[in-house]
Amino acid sequence: MPTVLALETSCDESAAAIVTDRRVLSSAVASQIEEHARWGGVVPEIASRRHVEALPGLVARVVAESGVDLAAVDAIAASVAPGLVGALLVGSVTGRTLARLHGKPFLGIHHLEGHLASVRLGEDPPEGPTLVLLVSGGHTELVRVDGPGRYRRLGRSHDDAAGECFDKVARLLGLPYPGGPAIEAAARPGDPHRFRLPKGRVSRPGGGFHPYDFSFSGLKTAMLRQVEALTTAGIPLPLADLAASFEQVVAEVLVERSCRCALDEGLDTLVLVGGVAANRRLRALLAERAGAVGLGWRVAPLAWCTDNAAMVGVAACERLRGGCSSPISLGVAPRLALAEADRLYETQPCF
Ligand code: KG4
Ligand code: ZN
Repeated sequence: MPTVLALETSCDESAAAIVTDRRVLSSAVASQIEEHARWGGVVPEIASRRHVEALPGLVARVVAESGVDLAAVDAIAASVAPGLVGALLVGSVTGRTLARLHGKPFLGIHHLEGHLASVRLGEDPPEGPTLVLLVSGGHTELVRVDGPGRYRRLGRSHDDAAGECFDKVARLLGLPYPGGPAIEAAARPGDPHRFRLPKGRVSRPGGGFHPYDFSFSGLKTAMLRQVEALTTAGIPLPLADLAASFEQVVAEVLVERSCRCALDEGLDTLVLVGGVAANRRLRALLAERAGAVGLGWRVAPLAWCTDNAAMVGVAACERLRGGCSSPISLGVAPRLALAEADRLYETQPCF
């Protein structure tokens, strides 16, 4: 069973972990959220600088906590795509330098492949082909997974990602960044059916609607109109009901289209991963609806939904078992699609 040191710096969490197969020996995350919260979102330049400052300490910590010396790991891995270019570069350069220094193979990992692997950190990981609903701050995708590196995107958002929508609506409601956890907390005592909100459909050029795609811009506008109407009428904002109604409609649209896609594809298991997968209403609704239509389901463990390096390590171990390694001169690819993740292991670096 391979052991790897994994690094994650694609956005606003600096993270390191040491993983053996799908067992986490140590994991540390330094969140920059408080600093970015002052600006209402991630400031790329600040993110890169904080990664530079945090990463050496995190590596030292996971090495000490695991008791595994870098001389004993089988490979060193880092997220190299997609994400903020400056942020990705910090993990990539650190990873490649350590790999060179210790004479280890380097693996560039696709960050979304890391999210997909996060479900393997739970009990009873799924076997065989699955449909994965991947919902994070930057992505909303329905991915058919037929094995490591065998991905087909069947659905996506045409505008904001689900997490981005949580973040923007939170700001509208006067809640802090990141919006997901803030909305979830505000929604707890609320009535999820008080406000009727749109489920954003995406038209097809030939007529009808795309059955598995998403659009969150109409929902964002509907929330804005609702807040404006209440404010104009001098009614104090019913924050809990607004947050709960928003959370409910996002969860419903994600789960309904995912179930339909899985059934149409003849897949029997639905998997939920990514930062937004931490949302308890979404997790509960997925379990309820998937169960009702006879689908099996798995959700990534709560601790591994938002960005972390353990999930990158699990993906790296799978790749390593498949005989993959990246050229040491591999750069970063801020926009590489998941279906192209295999390109990270071509002999000649693709970027
Ligand atoms: O996966 P992640 O940590 O970073 C990206 O790869 O983007 O996802 C971060 C996103 C943010 O938009 C955040 O608001 C959202 O995940 N999020 C949540 C929750 N926790 C984090 N959204 C809804 N409910 C949550 N509990
Ligand atoms: Zn992520």
